[in-house]
Amino acid sequence: MSTIFTNDPIEAAAFIKIGGIVAFPTETVYGLGADVFDEKAVARIFEAKRRPADNPLIAHISDLGQMSELADAITTTAEELIEAFFPGPLTIVLNKRETVPSIATAGLDTIGIRMPRFAIAHEFLKACATPVVAPSANLSGRPSPTTWQAVAEDLDGRVDCILQGDPTQIGLESTVVDCTSDVAVILRSGSVSLEEIRRVLPDARAYETSSPDIARSPGMLHQHYSPRARVSFVDGPTEATDGADAAYIGIHPPAGKFVLEHVSASVEEYAHSLFEFFRQCDRKGIKTIYCERVASTGIGTALMDRLGRAAER
Ligand code: TXA
Ligand code: MG
Repeated sequence: MSTIFTNDPIEAAAFIKIGGIVAFPTETVYGLGADVFDEKAVARIFEAKRRPADNPLIAHISDLGQMSELADAITTTAEELIEAFFPGPLTIVLNKRETVPSIATAGLDTIGIRMPRFAIAHEFLKACATPVVAPSANLSGRPSPTTWQAVAEDLDGRVDCILQGDPTQIGLESTVVDCTSDVAVILRSGSVSLEEIRRVLPDARAYETSSPDIARSPGMLHQHYSPRARVSFVDGPTEATDGADAAYIGIHPPAGKFVLEHVSASVEEYAHSLFEFFRQCDRKGIKTIYCERVASTGIGTALMDRLGRAAER
């Protein structure tokens, strides 16, 4: 298959209307989209990414009217979060309508819904005129793409179209929140923090992973976000002294010299740079990536979650 590259959201949307799969930018990471109601197109997403069939997809919308095409009922918890965070990097999980094909939700009777705030994503989704399910536009297990070039690295020749936009603003995926009951539960940490959610819903809590076999967000069970290099934590820059075939990323300069180094001015910038840095390390054949640990507050929670998963292999 030859992949069409374009920077025109209308041209990209035309592929969705004929059953195609299209990679597009959002403020978090690039997604790989298909019409939620087109089962064949949705199946092609799983194939292109080599994604396990038990991992559900997030539906992306351009206006709130589309909620009723996807969700059975909007709960009060969902209403509060929509009011506070839509459009933006937050996904709400609600009971799905029967008309939503089960392949999109991996057989679950719930569906994740998000309204991106990136202007180009909005234009693309509006032109699609249907909710678009989209996982991150990487091969399954690889770091999520934050540039169209990273998408092409994994998916050129495997998708119909890549919509070329700017690099993403945030660099980590959306926060996924279960809103099916009175208490909002964070299933995946992301760029909207627990602290921010609690300002709107004081009872909100993080999902306890004490029984990993019953994770409510199936994607959290799969291996994720991994560069080919080994990921190793350092608690402070002075621990980062070994430079051979190694790289360093953190918010303080390392003690030693490394083949690749990335020192960010803030935790936000660290989060923003992480996935592209992982890919850069792979291109250079780096063997070990030393990553500075940060405090688990704000976006630091999501950053430490992704780093932890990348280090698990
Ligand atoms: O920022 C993002 O969320 C990006 C952009 C493209 O929107 N998308 C993304 O999708 O990261 P993906 O498929 O890579 O991750 C979706 C996560 C997975 O952990 C999945 O298990 C969870 O959301 N999820 C999706 N639908 C769910 C549902 N109905 N119930 C529980 N978890 C769900
Ligand atoms: Mg993903």
